[in-house]
Amino acid sequence: MAVVTGASRGLGAGLAARFAEAGLALGLCARHEPPVPDGAAERAVTAAVDVTDPDAVDRFADAVVERLGRIDLWVNNAGLLAPIGPLRDVDPGELRANIEVNVLGVLHGSATFARHVRSRPGGGTLVNITSGAATRAYAGWAAYCAAKAAVDHATRVVALEEADSGLRAFAVAPGVVDTDMQALIRATPPERFPSVDRFHRIREEGAYNSPAWVADHVLGLLDAPPDAPVVQRVPDEPR
Ligand SMILES: NC(=O)c1ccc[n+]([C@@H]2O[C@H](COP(=O)([O-])OP(=O)(O)OC[C@H]3O[C@@H](n4cnc5c(N)ncnc54)[C@H](OP(=O)(O)O)[C@@H]3O)[C@@H](O)[C@H]2O)c1
Repeated sequence: MAVVTGASRGLGAGLAARFAEAGLALGLCARHEPPVPDGAAERAVTAAVDVTDPDAVDRFADAVVERLGRIDLWVNNAGLLAPIGPLRDVDPGELRANIEVNVLGVLHGSATFARHVRSRPGGGTLVNITSGAATRAYAGWAAYCAAKAAVDHATRVVALEEADSGLRAFAVAPGVVDTDMQALIRATPPERFPSVDRFHRIREEGAYNSPAWVADHVLGLLDAPPDAPVVQRVPDEPR
């Protein structure tokens, strides 16, 4: 059984679809209630949940467990890129919103899942979706880069704190996936995002990782060897 946050569109919806194909029961949330993947109606719980609200995340987990039983895999995927532009120019409210979703949202989901794993026997797998921007600095993405770096390091902390409960924690950078987030990047003028050409080129070359490819990498983590790195990048999909 798997939970995916930010499952209303983009990578999260694609992860959910692949997990459903693999036969997993699903708990899916986003601010807009996510669609149920094909064939999963009998084994899916969907809800409108804002991951910045820790109580709402807890209530969602309780509803999922009540209906579908124990959660084996929890994917904190919900995220946002904005604001884009030099830090000196961006709106402080947008900065706050970025950190609330990308950092606090991931911390709330991680905490909820860690408590769940300790509430029943057996371990669990936590996957926090990070980005290459955690380690590569992009002018125009101060909040996003800072947030994803925080996700990487917080995931290392959770991996240490929860090892004795059998919880394995990973931060997984999916590579470039063609979603609304990519459309927003391509629509940004170079004055606000000087690296925009790179993303136009990726589009021209179709050099994306599909959500199904990312999902298969995540599913592989359910049997990760003990020495698997906490912070990982999904390899480029062969084409
Ligand atoms: N696309 C890429 O190339 C790429 C590369 C590296 C990393 N990532 C990461 O992959 C993840 C998914 O990105 P994406 O490209 O699929 O983005 P997206 O198309 O913009 O989708 C973002 C998802 O997050 C949800 N979300 C946003 N704020 C939320 C909140 N406060 N509470 C709950 N859900 C919220 C959105 O749903 P609602 O609007 O319904 O809430 C949506 O389902 C993100 O963590 C992103 O940083 C993406």
